[in-house]
Formats: sequence, C-alpha cells, structure tokens
Amino acid sequence: MKSAILNKENFSKKEIITLLNSTGELRRQLFEKAAADKAAHLGNKVYLRGLIELSNICSKNCYYCGIRKDNKNIERYNLTDQEVIEAADFAFKNNYGSIVIQSGEMQSANFTTRITDLITKIKKLSDNKLGITLSCGEQTRDVYAKWFDAGAHRYLLRIETSVRSLYEKLHPNNAEHSWERRIECLNSLKDIGYQTGTGVMIGLPYQSISDLAEDLLFMKKTDIDMCGMGPYIEHEDTPLYAHKSHLLPLNERFELSMKMIAILRIMMKDINMAATTALQAIDKLGREKIIKAGANIIMPNITPGMYRNNYALYQNKPCTDESADDCKNCIAARVKIAGAEIAYNEWGDSRHFSKKNNKKLAP
Ligand code: 5AD
Ligand code: SF4
Ligand code: FES
Repeated sequence: MKSAILNKENFSKKEIITLLNSTGELRRQLFEKAAADKAAHLGNKVYLRGLIELSNICSKNCYYCGIRKDNKNIERYNLTDQEVIEAADFAFKNNYGSIVIQSGEMQSANFTTRITDLITKIKKLSDNKLGITLSCGEQTRDVYAKWFDAGAHRYLLRIETSVRSLYEKLHPNNAEHSWERRIECLNSLKDIGYQTGTGVMIGLPYQSISDLAEDLLFMKKTDIDMCGMGPYIEHEDTPLYAHKSHLLPLNERFELSMKMIAILRIMMKDINMAATTALQAIDKLGREKIIKAGANIIMPNITPGMYRNNYALYQNKPCTDESADDCKNCIAARVKIAGAEIAYNEWGDSRHFSKKNNKKLAP
C-alpha cells in the first residue's frame, strides 16, 4: 500500500524527518515517487554544464574546504583568459549547451572586470548560444548586476547549511563569513533576475536529521530555481578534519544525500537539480543513482587537465586525471546507464524559473 505521506504535495518537518530515516518499503516508495515526479514534470532529459574551475585562489577560510586561504599545501593557479576561452570553445563545439564558471572567492575590481570580459567573449564566440552559469561566491549587488548584464543568467551560491548556529561552527566568526550576508546575496541574485541556485552539504559533523529537514524547507521557502547538494567529504588539510570522529560513515552520507535529492524532487518538481561530483567520490555509480533519484543536470569537467588536481575542495575528487574528452565520453555512458538521455545544444533552463516569470508577466 502506498504510504500516506507520499500522497502529499507538501511535507511537514516531521514528515521529512520520517522520509530521511526511512528504510525498507517506505524508502523504496520514496525513490519510486521521486522518479515518477521527475518523469512527469521534466521528462527523461539530462542537461550538461561544462565545468570550468577558473581559479583555486580564495580569500575565505571555510573550515571544511580544501582550497581555503590558509591551506599552504596546495599549489594555487589561475587559468589564463585564453585557457578559459578554449574550454568554453570545447563546450560549444561539443554541443554542451551551457557552461559553469566556478572559482574560489575573490572580490576585486580586476576580478569583476575579468569575469565580465570573459562572459562577453564567450557569448561572442558561441554566437550567444552557450548558456552561462556563474559560481563565484559572494559579491556585491552591483557586481552581480554587471555579470547579469554581460550575459550570465544563472548563479549558484550554496547556503551550505540553512541552520545558522551550524553555519557558525563551520566558518570563522567574522564579517567575511556571515550567514546573513549569504542570504542577502541570494536575495540580490533573485532580484536581479538570475535563475538562482543554492544547496547544502550533507553529513557534516554536528548536523542532525532535523537540520537537514530544515534545509529542504529553506529551499522550498526561498523558492529556488536550482539546487546542487551533496555529501560533505573530509579533507585532511582543513580544521574540520579534527572533528572526523563525529562523522557518519561515507555510505550513510551517500544514502542521506540520495534521500535529500529524492525528497526535494517531490517538494519542488520542476527545479533543476545537479548530480554533484562529490556523490561520485563516494560511490562509483553515484551520479547514475542520483539521476534516477531525481537529478537532471550533470557537470562534465572541462578545466584543462594540468590544473584539475589543485581544485580539491575535498579528497578523492573524481575526474582529476581525466581530460575533457574523457569526461565527455564517460558522462555519455553514465547517463545512458541511468536510463536517461542527454539534451545536447540546449540551455536546459530551470522550468520552475520560466513558469514563475510567465506568471509575473501575466495580467
Ligand atoms: N566536501 C564537500 N563539499 C565541499 N565544498 C567545499 N568543501 C567541501 C567538502 N569538504 C562545497 C561547498 C561549496 C562548494 C563549492 O563546494 O558546498 O559551496
Ligand atoms: Fe573559498 Fe568556497 Fe572553499 Fe569557502 S567553500 S574556502 S568560499 S572556495
Ligand atoms: Fe570525468 Fe567520468 S565524468 S571521468
């Protein structure tokens, strides 16, 4: 018999907790419902975002992240403009439809101009055909607006955790690492007109099931257009590593991530949701499983090979020894295994966003 919870459109916090803890038949039904909702609202397509990791230089010191400013054990790099353009050109020629430019956080006039110029050049080289998502951290509203005007139309900024007290445990206690500021940034992005994405890490030390339920309710309340969330994976050159004994085993963090994605798919049927690389770091078939559970976006790495090892936010990151061509072929095979189909040459915008905007335009 179908569980009463799964017949609902909106879940209470208590119901989300029940689903996150589910085993056996309820768990099976959760994944079945998420797959059915995805098929009904989004079909079978998976959209590509060629991922360019522009630079691992970061001005911040998040306690969990391998490229934090104070980590002296990594070599810092900054792609040349030429390398970024070549990567974008690879995405264009291989019909990826969209790219993501991701970077450690830098706030400077130079960085702002650099990204603006790169967006302009990429739009030009692709005759406006490549969609551009940015993931360059917290910036002022003016900076976000400049990049939007230059042609970026989607922005990813993870809230990391919606629970402020936990956020404060994971970041230095100063103005540069403020939870409120991140909320303000998300609001600016939405206001400006970006398709706005956020996400959280799953299985952090001191994070409870109740915190994860809050995260899902936060995403629903914020009415996000896109989501990228995945397991926290410890990195030995970070302060949070000392709290390793408080972690769930990796397979449990993976299982929780699958459930988070499946539950959010039922709660927000038409948002874009990424199958993140961190899932693959834990389970070789991670991304395939997540596509089945509700994700519809995959981000093949197109960063030039020699830099990939250095963008290690967490350990055992996949695709560090592969080339853009390897990832292309690998992803095509994986999507097929998941029983889905890659939509080449499409932006794959968030349907949730398009619907909202049509509503706004209606009299
Ligand atoms: N494990 C998993 N994800 C991480 N990130 C940073 N460090 C880690 C880690 N150790 C994620 C954060 C950030 C994104 C760029 O990478 O959520 O927003
Ligand atoms: Fe920098 Fe982002 Fe890593 Fe924080 S999570 S240290 S802002 S790259
Ligand atoms: Fe990069 Fe599989 S996606 S090697």
